[in-house]
Parts: sequence; structure tokens; C-alpha cells
Amino acid sequence: MVATEGRPAPKGESLTFDLSTYLKQRQAQVEAALDRSLPLTYPEKIYEAMRYSLLAGGKRLRPILCLATCELVGGTLEMAMPTACALEMIHTMSLIHDDLPAMDNDDYRRGKLTNHKVYGDDIAILAGDGLLAYAFEYVATQTQNVPAHQVLQVVARLGRAVGAAGLVGGQVVDLESEGNSDIQEETLTFIHTHKTGALLEACVVCGGILGGVTDEEIERLSRYAKNIGLAFQIVDDILDITATQEELGKTAGKDLLAQKATYPSLWGIEASKTKAQQLIDAAKAELELFGEKAQPLLAIADFITTRTH
Ligand code: FPP
Ligand code: MG
Repeated sequence: MVATEGRPAPKGESLTFDLSTYLKQRQAQVEAALDRSLPLTYPEKIYEAMRYSLLAGGKRLRPILCLATCELVGGTLEMAMPTACALEMIHTMSLIHDDLPAMDNDDYRRGKLTNHKVYGDDIAILAGDGLLAYAFEYVATQTQNVPAHQVLQVVARLGRAVGAAGLVGGQVVDLESEGNSDIQEETLTFIHTHKTGALLEACVVCGGILGGVTDEEIERLSRYAKNIGLAFQIVDDILDITATQEELGKTAGKDLLAQKATYPSLWGIEASKTKAQQLIDAAKAELELFGEKAQPLLAIADFITTRTH
């Protein structure tokens, strides 16, 4: 077997792709870039709170999707790294705010106390705000070797994914639906495609834009991302029931306790697993035109249904 060391195997050599090595290598690159992106400076308290959550680990799936897509369409890691970091800043801020007492009131995230448990609600709100603003500044000031109009497109895509047309809109409908376990599948899908799907789509599409994607490719990549985004959420709902707090790094069994409508509550666990697999198959079909170069994105799609946390 040819050792691929995280790279797609050259054509004709081997069909195996070592996702675990690939993810480890990319995670290390992203960790280092995130650490460099946000130095501790005055007023230290806020930078410390921002760094506490930004550097708390996690799968770094969003930045890795962005980097992989940029490379897939012919770009380099360097072109996409500032946006990859920004995506993790945005994701982290959304989790800090989601965990606040005014929202989900959670004590643990990524295996550590939540931001407000350590720094207080006031600083946690500001840490989220600080990360959100910095994400946009970071893309605009740090992206190199990419034409300005492409960077502008990325900024616009990110803004749309985060605002009321994306994450914020999804979170609002989620909050409104709390305690209402008989919400319809349509509402549930709205919540997930906005709260989780919009940012995942932005990761893939922005990576593509930075790497110089074509119009046809962007449509396919967007459909790939939407499908893996929904599958990701279905698996999240399943894991909330089947995984332990240690595996998840956050409280398990919350959905049942909060009588939250989820895919497993609508369809049952087995049918939910089947649906997730169908979405992954549909996502992978969108990548056929890229051939072997798509191995990282194909393997990431499979990883979504097999993950345990
Ligand atoms: C986790 O969902 C929460 C999100 C994916 C995003 C929540 C979005 C906001 C709080 C809006 C943030 C504001 C801006 C400006 C982006 P969950 O509670 O279902 O999952 P969990 O079990 O991981 O908490
Ligand atoms: Mg939550």
C-alpha cells in the first residue's frame, strides 16, 4: 500500500486515503495558526477569555473543510488559512453565546467549563463579540495572494452565513421551538440548515472562492456542504442520545431532557441513521467531477456518519 501521509494518493497509485493522518496534520496546522492569530495583549482579561474558548480544542472541522476545498480547486493552504481561522472564531463565538444562561445555560464545552462559568456572563458576551468582529478583520487584513474581489465575496458570504439569514435565524427558531416536542420536520430542517448548515456551507464555498472555483464547481460544492451539514446535525442528535458526556465533551442527553424535537424523536434512531447515510451518499456524488483530488472531502463526508463525538 502506498503511504499517503495525509495527501491524496497520486492517480493510479492507490485508492486508500489516510483520513486520520490527514486530520491530525491539518488540526496541528490550524491550532498553530489560531494561536498566532490572537496574541494576549492589553486588556488581557478579554483576550484571555477569547483565547480560552478559541484554543479549547475541538475537531476543527470547519477550518479543515475550508482548507481542503481551497486545495481541491487549485489554491494553497496559505490562501485559505486566515479564513479558516475566522470560521473557527465565528463557530467558537456562537458556542460561547449558545452556552450562556440566557440561551442553553450549559456548564461544559469541549471538555472544559464554559466561557461564562470561568469569566462571568459579561465577559463571555464580550468575548463572543470580540471574536466575531475580529474574524472579519482577520480575513480582510491577513488574506494574501488572493484577488481583492474574491476576498470581498468571502466577507459577504461569511456575513450572510452568520446573520439572521443563517446562524442567528436558525438559533431564533430553535429558541422559539423549545419545549415544543411536536414541531414539524420542516421547522426542524429550517433550524438545522441555518444554525449549523449555513456556516458549514460557508466553509466549503469560501475555501472554493479563495482557491478560484468555477461557477459549476461552486454549485456542486454548495450542495455537497448542505448535505453533509444536515447529516452532521442528524448524527449530532443521535449522539446526544447514544454517547456519554466524556465522549461528547459536553452534557449528553440534553435534547430528551429539554423535550426538544430532534430527528431521532421524529423518525427513530435507525431511520435517522439511514437518512444521514443517504445525505452523505448524495454529498459524495456531487464530487465526482473532481476525481481523486476530492479524497479529503469524500473521507470527511464519511467521517461525519462514523464519528462518536
Ligand atoms: C449549538 O447548538 C449552537 C449553534 C450551532 C449556534 C448558535 C448560534 C448563536 C448563539 C447565535 C450566535 C450569534 C452570532 C452573531 C453568530 P446546540 O445548542 O443544538 O448544540 P450544543 O449541544 O453543542 O450546545
Ligand atoms: Mg447548546
